[in-house]
Amino acid sequence: MEDSLTVTDNRTGRTYEIPVADGAIRAPDLRQIKVDDDDFGLLSYDPAFLNTASCRSSITEIDGDRGILRYRGYPIEQLAEHGSYLETAHLLLFGELPTEAELEVWTHEITYHTFVHENVKQLMQGFRYDAHPMGMLISVVAALSTFYPEASRVDDADVRMLQVHRLIAKVPTIAAWSYRHSRGLPYVYPDNDLGFTANFLSMMFKMAEPRFEAHPALVRALEVLFILHADHEQNCSANAMRSIGSSKVDPYSALAGAAAALYGPLHGGANEAVLKMLAEIGNLKNIPAFVEKVKAGEGRLMGFGHRIYKNYDPRAKIIKQVADEVFEVTGRNAMLDIALELEKIALEDEYFVSRKLYPNVDFYSGIIYQALGLPVAMFPVMFAIPRTAGWLAQWLELVQDPEQKIARPRQLYVGSDVRDYVPAGKRRAVAATV
Ligand code: CMC
Repeated sequence: MEDSLTVTDNRTGRTYEIPVADGAIRAPDLRQIKVDDDDFGLLSYDPAFLNTASCRSSITEIDGDRGILRYRGYPIEQLAEHGSYLETAHLLLFGELPTEAELEVWTHEITYHTFVHENVKQLMQGFRYDAHPMGMLISVVAALSTFYPEASRVDDADVRMLQVHRLIAKVPTIAAWSYRHSRGLPYVYPDNDLGFTANFLSMMFKMAEPRFEAHPALVRALEVLFILHADHEQNCSANAMRSIGSSKVDPYSALAGAAAALYGPLHGGANEAVLKMLAEIGNLKNIPAFVEKVKAGEGRLMGFGHRIYKNYDPRAKIIKQVADEVFEVTGRNAMLDIALELEKIALEDEYFVSRKLYPNVDFYSGIIYQALGLPVAMFPVMFAIPRTAGWLAQWLELVQDPEQKIARPRQLYVGSDVRDYVPAGKRRAVAATV
């Protein structure tokens, strides 16, 4: 059988043969389908890209029905159990796990770039005392492009690599400082004798002690959270990174845009909603009534359901284990008991089972961040730190893909037909609404 699609246009009776490759047709092939010579050609209409592949990618694979997530072919479970964040970042960016020698060089390059220019510090100190840390992170990452103007040479591989090192290394510093700023605490400089995650915790929590040494179990827990959040193929923020990057702007500007996309409650903000929900439930005995309200259409069970996963989100399974390890150190959080019971009830309930609603990555991550002592405003920032590797991997793939051009969707124009300009005094008043 031919790998093609035969399409009959019932408007004209003409038939077209459209090639199928990798389970997809190419939307531009539809353009040959016209009613007459003046016709622009058939478009595909797909708001929110529900059924449109925007790229060919070899970074992350998700099989939502089977609950599978792999980075460059490696199952997320294996990376989370055995790997480190920096080797995962290397894998995402360059396609392979590093050898021991490569890891040493890679770790050195990242560690070497953790400091930021002192002017960055002054810039951050200019924010209001109660500035949201995510707003600060987005702005300061964008501002980095002014410190490294050569970054605009995105076609130069060496220049690209330097910005990759800088971004992976500096985002945690900026993230930690945005937290310190919101708490009115002095900024802590990186400690380059510490590993990536331990250094981040030191920049967050160090006070007067000569060296901050986080509990090894908490360092490992955060490392696993970073691995789980490092990439998730063409999600909203990855798409923003690619779309902005397609204009060939520098990676700092593109990454600031990606982080802005992550800031939204439908993307990186859902774990905050889970915590609010658990607080609202407040007590184990209130769970059945809450579940009934959800089933009656009054609100959603936050942290449940996913556009792609129609099975248990593999990240949620791992995070649940991480939660146990964290609570061994920090003491049990009452929220965890409510979450566990809620999950148990929901997974047995016909409403959730029939709709294939399972816990997603956000169901437990917020509880862990809270146990680590982080305020809710820091949750999207905690997501942005590891996702920096994913965004950059997507960007590197984009800029080296000869098939890619500036991202520029079409529209179906449904507005007014041509009309003549009317002077202000003769116009009909219309309420300005958006
Ligand atoms: N609680 C109760 N019912 C739900 C939920 C939920 N969390 N999610 C979906 N449903 C129901 C929905 O009402 C609909 O039922 P019906 O067929 O009777 O109308 C059915 O399940 C299908 O839902 P949908 O809205 O068509 O599914 P979607 O793929 O458009 O939405 C989602 C996916 C994640 C936005 C949604 O499941 C949701 O709102 N979940 C809660 C918020 C959340 O946890 N978001 C984090 C997503 S993971 C992080 C990330 O990737 O950024």
